[in-house]
Amino acid sequence: MGSTIEQAWWKEAVVYQVYPLSFQDSNGDGIGDLPGIISRLDYLKMLGINVIWLSPIFPSPNDDNGYDISDYQAIMAEFGTMADFDRLLEEAHARGIRILLDLVLNHTSDEHPWFQESRQSRDNPKSDWYIWRDGKAGGPPNNWESIFSGSAWRYYPERDQYCLHLFSARQPDLNWENPEVREALYAMIRWWLDKGVDGFRIDAITHIRKVPGMPDLPNPKGLSVVPSSAGHRNVEGIQEYVADLCTNTFARYKDVMTVGEAAGVDIHDAPNWVAADQQKFNMIFQFEQLKLWGSDVDADLDLPALKKTLTRWQKGLEGQGWNALFVENHDIARIVSTWGDAENYWRESATAIAALYFLMQGTPFIYQGQELGMTNFPFERLDQFDDVAVQNFAAARLEEGWTEAEILDHIRNSARDNARTPMQWDNTANGGFTDGEPWLPTNPNYKTLNAARQARDPDSILNFYRELIRLRAASPALMHGTYDLVLEDHPQVYAYTRTLDNEQFLVVSNLSGEVADISACEVALTDAEQLLGNQGDNGEQLTLRPWEARVLSCSS
Ligand code: GLC
Ligand code: CA
Repeated sequence: MGSTIEQAWWKEAVVYQVYPLSFQDSNGDGIGDLPGIISRLDYLKMLGINVIWLSPIFPSPNDDNGYDISDYQAIMAEFGTMADFDRLLEEAHARGIRILLDLVLNHTSDEHPWFQESRQSRDNPKSDWYIWRDGKAGGPPNNWESIFSGSAWRYYPERDQYCLHLFSARQPDLNWENPEVREALYAMIRWWLDKGVDGFRIDAITHIRKVPGMPDLPNPKGLSVVPSSAGHRNVEGIQEYVADLCTNTFARYKDVMTVGEAAGVDIHDAPNWVAADQQKFNMIFQFEQLKLWGSDVDADLDLPALKKTLTRWQKGLEGQGWNALFVENHDIARIVSTWGDAENYWRESATAIAALYFLMQGTPFIYQGQELGMTNFPFERLDQFDDVAVQNFAAARLEEGWTEAEILDHIRNSARDNARTPMQWDNTANGGFTDGEPWLPTNPNYKTLNAARQARDPDSILNFYRELIRLRAASPALMHGTYDLVLEDHPQVYAYTRTLDNEQFLVVSNLSGEVADISACEVALTDAEQLLGNQGDNGEQLTLRPWEARVLSCSS
């Protein structure tokens, strides 16, 4: 008898994240747009993905590139019109591709009409829609620091009060304690669902509750330490808000896919967010595998730690919930430039990392350009960065006496702008992204690193991703099977099996530039059949070449 599998379309899906600003410009203004995305749907179909997550497409002054929304129910003028969005939805659906929107519920832009009203006075109808407090001793109400550096409070003379912003000063936090705020957000979500969108990625959702009284946090000044988020990240009681959100929105519709961005959630807490019987989110992005926010210099791969972390999540959610699998997004530097070796083993390391994360249990996410092995940008000066997080970080460090060179060294490899440069489609000007001046420079390597070239090359990173997608889709064991780590203490190799009934697969990736001996593998390698490899099949079963990855079928 076969095992029972809890099937759901979103478990079998592969998601592709589009960062609209940088995906495809259609009118020469240097900014990606919805018609541009529509023109690339056939490419995405060719790749084999079946869900697109669109980073925010709503009107925004773009202080944080669309994550500061000034109108939840319209389209940013630079991206197009609502008619363009309707056409995108229709054209995607016609190709069997579903669309997820990005829901930014923790904060709005300071240009949102709700905030414009709220800031006017202490007694207007929306005065309590944001988090306002009186100052203390001539300064802010407490010592909380913004995730983007500096005080988390901004002073508004109209109210003679401070307003809380966990992110940039232009992203005031909504007051989730106020039921009117929650209902306004829910109505907006239902409006998009009624329009036919297929689900959401839910931004910064672990920050929506703040500890009562908002006491000071241990934030020593001036030492460049990462400030504490203990007062506002996954704090006690947050599940009441999450349950309220889900009950009043997603649960009322059929088949909605939800993935929450869940900084601060560990595996013990994860079931509260994603266990099937909780009826909250389908999955979350956990943060334990990655160092975010550009404040950690050391983005290098720590293989033993990676094995521990990912295995903890795989085994921890087994039979209970579902994982979101990812190695890149718009907040993380390019993975081939950090965990991989873009200089010496660019193709091999990009594909070895791909095999490593893609075939675990969960829904794989691909960030635009990851499927081409796009690399970090060769930043040389601070003024080349666009990101508000970098600008605030640099300002704070300059004040502490760092030099520009020190700051640059610190952020060059981890800054979010590395992932935000234009998509590299072909070898024409600006990589085919725009006929105009791109809003952020194209990586100069577009002449050789681009989609058109890789589409023609059977051994390209792009074609390796296509194969991974095809292989996974054809195998219930690769989608639903149990994950088990093998070669646990191997210093170079990440290896695991996926097992369902009598079907078993082995995924082995050498994450080093040295040959790796895998003869100690617990699974019989000599009978296994190679289904996919990033360096062909040379008949060598017991060793892996530098950055070699193989997917083997071990079923007899
Ligand atoms: C999320 C987004 C990030 C944004 C932040 C504030 O972490 O992924 O890009 O800056 O929320 O909205
Ligand atoms: Ca444009």
